[in-house]
Amino acid sequence: MMKKRVFLTGVIHDFALAELKKRYRIEIHSGRSPISQARLRSKIRDADGLVCFPYDNITSDIIDHAQNLKVISTYSVGFDHVDTEHAKKRKIRVGYTPEVLTDATADLAFSLLLDVSRRVTEGDRTIRAGRWTRVYGAYDYVGVGLQGKTVGILGLGRIGSTFAKRAKAFDVNIIYHNRRRVSKSQEKALGAKYVSFEQLLSRSDFVSIHTPHTKETENLFGMKNLKKMKRSAFLINTARGRLVDERDLFTALKNGTISGAGLDVFETEPVPKNYPLARLPNVVLAPHIGSSTRETRSKMAEITVKNLNLGMNGRRPIYSVGY
Ligand code: DGY
Repeated sequence: MMKKRVFLTGVIHDFALAELKKRYRIEIHSGRSPISQARLRSKIRDADGLVCFPYDNITSDIIDHAQNLKVISTYSVGFDHVDTEHAKKRKIRVGYTPEVLTDATADLAFSLLLDVSRRVTEGDRTIRAGRWTRVYGAYDYVGVGLQGKTVGILGLGRIGSTFAKRAKAFDVNIIYHNRRRVSKSQEKALGAKYVSFEQLLSRSDFVSIHTPHTKETENLFGMKNLKKMKRSAFLINTARGRLVDERDLFTALKNGTISGAGLDVFETEPVPKNYPLARLPNVVLAPHIGSSTRETRSKMAEITVKNLNLGMNGRRPIYSVGY
């Protein structure tokens, strides 16, 4: 019997590929840049399964070019790059990889917070450029301390709550805003107080974003809301780039509307050459590495394969969106 076809828009771990090869005919887009929509349209035509990544764009148009597709398995917790409603209409399963990357992503968010507030990467850039010329000046490379400050968490889901646990150990006040208020016992365990979005912006010394990218949250952090933050505040984003209006953020960081930012996700990934935010000293940039630990990435590969296998057999993936 002919093996079913699986198309992968990028490379995953060897053990996962070996597993897939045993069951399917696989084809992989292995270029350094994401696959073009035109190529994806032609590749998906005969595929029974698709493995994709957060930088892909699995639109209704792409889905409609698929004639046999049974499952889309994304190697990510986020699925805003997949038109899940359309997949559901076409009875195509969508699997994703939550839980296994919660700790890694919360750790990275907290690393960015510490890095930008204590100016670690800025110092690194100073040393590498040979600009560290004076020893231990009283006002040199001065950052801000965390203790007693207020950390505001937008989105107290899995990653937001785990980030709150990290924050708690640093003796900060934790406030949060969420679509739905969490239970009193969860608030108590995390030491987190529910506030409105406006209060979160105006009261936080650090705002960390952990909410999905949707039509409603697109460009949520534009100038109007950035202006509501303290001038001394820092913005951390490990969720999705499109939650932040990068032009407005650039202006806000340049003119002191806010103090700094730590970003792991961007409007366009990879960022273009001469990326404006990379010119600012008060920004720490990471190349979308929230889930990027050896342990986490290999678990993600394992789940991506399991989700795919289940969907190929007409079953619901372990972690399934909608259908
Ligand atoms: C995801 O899996 O959606 C994250 O962006 C990885 O960091």
